[in-house]
Amino acid sequence: MNFKKDLAAILFELLDQEISATELELMIEKPKNQELGDLAFPCFTLAKLKRKSPNLIAQELSEKLHSPTFEKVEVVGAYLNIFLNKKTVSEEVVIEILQQQEKYGALEFGKGGQVTIDMSSPNIAKPFSMGHLRSTVIGNSIALIVEKCGYQPIKINHLGDWGTQFGKLITSYQLWGDVEKVKQNPIKELLTLYIKFHEEAETNPSLEDQGRSWFKKLEDGDEQALSLWQWFRDESLKEFSRIYELLNVEFDSLAGEAFYNDKMDRIVQLLEEKQLLVESNQAQVVELTEEQLPPCLIKKSDGATLYATRDLAAALYRKENYNFALSLYVVGHEQSLHFKQLIAVLEKMGFDWAQKMHHIPFGMMLKDGKKMSTRKGKVVLLEEVLTESIAMASHSIEEKNPNLANKAEVAKQVGVGAVIFHDLKNNRMNDIEFSLEDMLRFEGETGPYVQYSYARACSILRKANWDSELQTAAYNNAWDKEWKVVSVLMEFSHSIKRACENFDPSQVAKYVVDLAQAFNKYYAEVKILEENAEQQSRLALVDSVTVVLKEGLRLLGLEAPKEM
Ligand code: ARG
Repeated sequence: MNFKKDLAAILFELLDQEISATELELMIEKPKNQELGDLAFPCFTLAKLKRKSPNLIAQELSEKLHSPTFEKVEVVGAYLNIFLNKKTVSEEVVIEILQQQEKYGALEFGKGGQVTIDMSSPNIAKPFSMGHLRSTVIGNSIALIVEKCGYQPIKINHLGDWGTQFGKLITSYQLWGDVEKVKQNPIKELLTLYIKFHEEAETNPSLEDQGRSWFKKLEDGDEQALSLWQWFRDESLKEFSRIYELLNVEFDSLAGEAFYNDKMDRIVQLLEEKQLLVESNQAQVVELTEEQLPPCLIKKSDGATLYATRDLAAALYRKENYNFALSLYVVGHEQSLHFKQLIAVLEKMGFDWAQKMHHIPFGMMLKDGKKMSTRKGKVVLLEEVLTESIAMASHSIEEKNPNLANKAEVAKQVGVGAVIFHDLKNNRMNDIEFSLEDMLRFEGETGPYVQYSYARACSILRKANWDSELQTAAYNNAWDKEWKVVSVLMEFSHSIKRACENFDPSQVAKYVVDLAQAFNKYYAEVKILEENAEQQSRLALVDSVTVVLKEGLRLLGLEAPKEM
């Protein structure tokens, strides 16, 4: 059911097959105001081809444009405004949704291509930051959206588990560390040690050398260094996995930076063969002058590799192992330069697949208008945020629906959903102000609002003893009061397509808010539970709304409690 496509096919014939149906479909617009029609076709660009005025073309087309799906066609200047037949179209839409259930809105253009998604990727031994939360929830939603479009997503947690900072951490641990303390509170304790290292290094610069040499040992496979590193990594992952469990996010791969330790020689060798490596201040770099980028640092003077070296190895590994159709990196915009350099180096190496790599940047999470940073103690710990959000959700359930059976589970779904939705509802490039009160509001554009609308729709169906299995298509309704809701339902796959093309979950977030609003307005105007001739069709519509709201929420990574 794609009415734009239907219209394009008819226009294709009416215009003597001179413009392709695909092109025509792209020309079809959706009027801002529904009173002007459901679809609009501007005739300006046809004037040259047909050597007639656009207004005349519109007039002539309108006389020939007939289809059972169109109720009427109006000409306004050079525009054809088309009104869909509410009854035919609504019944078609509702039946399609009820038949397809959660498959409704699915697209096929991804056709099984694999999409690697580099997401979350926190740094071991440091707190999971708001930036990592953003990467996790945006990445997870993009994975669900690309999957809905036919791709196969591969979620990779490129853990920051390698690099000079581990040399520093080992140094610091050996000087001031305490096994028991680290065991009790790993990330907090390791962070303290890391901060202490930097404080002490200000007055004792030799510490930096010790740090570098420990990292060198780590890269060379020194046993003592490796076992400490492994321990720090395991303990950190234990903490991170609690957060992933709360967020309901799983990964297909945990191959972090360390995984590429034995794969970097090959990269360096390839760069040498292609004569791309030059020496600069005793370090090895790839010059990117033509690309107007600063040189990409590949190897330090002591032979140690860098973040970029590991990313080069990772990109090649992903190409060879997943043969990706797209390779996405969901990482904050402050790393834009790094990804530009990465892609540029790969292109210089002659890998044309580098064009399939996309950095998916996002803005910062602010607290009182300022960046949250790990170093200065200003950081809001994510686990605390989630726990607090769940507590607040639980409090409001206690007020609104004290007899709810599975209160704890619903509080989790609502509390966590609120945090995720707050992150996804705006274009990802916007900075967002962190506010638990805003996230948890039951009105406005929030997760709880959409979930609540879903629960309300479910409750109507329960009260009416509605059984969607038993319904036939013989609905008795003119569908005019329902039209707004139906028009939004029709748009589902368009919003998914836009979200996929722009790697932008906010398209789906805005969509579910629109649908919830349209539904709530309808609910306020129409007595759905009143037994009358229209009731069957109305309940079928409410059922379709539940199907689409639930699926929309799922694509964002939110659950949909049936009662709350
Ligand atoms: N661990 C890095 C950080 O926290 C993010 C890694 C992003 N992914 C990548 N392939 N570089 O800043």
